[in-house]
Amino acid sequence: MRTLGVAVVGFGWMGRVHTQAYTRVLHHFPDPPVRSRLVVVADDVPGRAEEAAERYGFETATRDWREVAADPRVGAVSVTAPNFLHREIGVAMAEAGKHLWIEKPVGLGADDARAVAAAAAAAGVWGTVGFNYRNAPAVAAARELIAAGEIGRVTHVRVRLFSDYAAHPESALTWRYERARGGSGVLGDLASHGVDLARHLLGEIDSLAADTAVFLRERARPAGATAGHARAVGGEPGAVENDDYVSCLLRFASGARGVLEACRVSVGEQNSYGFEIHGTTGALFWDFRRMGELGVCRGTGYQDQPVSTVHVGPGHGAYGAFQPGAANAMGYDDLKVIEAHHFLRSLTEGTAHGACLADAVAAATALDAMARSAEERRWVALPGVSPPADRHAG
Ligand SMILES: NC(=O)c1ccc[n+]([C@@H]2O[C@H](COP(=O)([O-])OP(=O)(O)OC[C@H]3O[C@@H](n4cnc5c(N)ncnc54)[C@H](O)[C@@H]3O)[C@@H](O)[C@H]2O)c1
Repeated sequence: MRTLGVAVVGFGWMGRVHTQAYTRVLHHFPDPPVRSRLVVVADDVPGRAEEAAERYGFETATRDWREVAADPRVGAVSVTAPNFLHREIGVAMAEAGKHLWIEKPVGLGADDARAVAAAAAAAGVWGTVGFNYRNAPAVAAARELIAAGEIGRVTHVRVRLFSDYAAHPESALTWRYERARGGSGVLGDLASHGVDLARHLLGEIDSLAADTAVFLRERARPAGATAGHARAVGGEPGAVENDDYVSCLLRFASGARGVLEACRVSVGEQNSYGFEIHGTTGALFWDFRRMGELGVCRGTGYQDQPVSTVHVGPGHGAYGAFQPGAANAMGYDDLKVIEAHHFLRSLTEGTAHGACLADAVAAATALDAMARSAEERRWVALPGVSPPADRHAG
């Protein structure tokens, strides 16, 4: 089997998850097209890359990601640094001929996502994007049921992404809360996943109307380096520059309607991500916290039609790569193992398995439109989507 040298740039939460996923692909998928070799890890916090190399088995460590771009051992790079670095690192890696597994939202806005996509296309390298929730076997099952017409014509969807990760008033003022380094706040952080799920399940979004809010206007500056969602007790207060909350009405090219809501300061909500999809003859319900369960309502009863809980099993998405029988719980990291497999297949075959840079551009375009809609208090049409026949119906 061919070997591919891989690098990870930015060793916080996602850096670790990508690293473990590269290693685990072989454990779960007997036929990966290439075997990945952990070559180099980069992180600008002193000691962090060295510690990661020691613990996870990278051959070398560096504080300077440019050394990764110049490293001939490296064929593919995970870009798991903060959002403001996605464009610079993504473009440089693509120009250096490295395939990209890059985290969402791929930059601060659609311009950045387009720049990374253009660089990858020009260099002829693949770009897989970290929209991992679409990898859940229950989401794959939902997509199949919709495509098979099992819930009739899809009429409307509610997509919810509520979290409390930023709810604590002492949570540190990290890059996530700055426009220049974190971009649009909860839009890029959580709503991007919602847009990807909505597009993956219902097709392109035609137009939208959004409202946004910042509920916690100040946070404490951290004294030193941070990773993940750190606290900064007693730190000097600074302004939160991007959104805590977004609600958005969606019109799909199919004519379906939707509501997307995302919030990072929802006390009482831990990774409360999911959707309810309604069709003319049925409905589907999914909650990430019970990832292996899909609520399915179908039949010919219309009124009082029961909802069954389907426990996903072999035959639903990539479930069979993990467990031999239904209802053995999978976890978040498993979604990244599926994503790593998609990445290795895509870069070998040159065709899309899982979310790719075009999906990041589409999601970022919708997120930019949400920000504009909220600012200008009006509906915004998305470019490149032809209006549905019943756009003005209802
Ligand atoms: N797909 C998902 O579900 C998901 C979940 C969380 C985060 N993310 C995305 O992953 C990315 C990283 O998020 P995270 O939660 O891992 O953040 P994090 O803060 O935990 O980690 C970021 C790491 O990048 C490092 N870094 C910063 N500047 C660097 C530089 N110049 N060179 C090298 N390393 C540098 C930091 O030191 C840190 O270790 C973000 O884009 C985020 O949107 C995706």
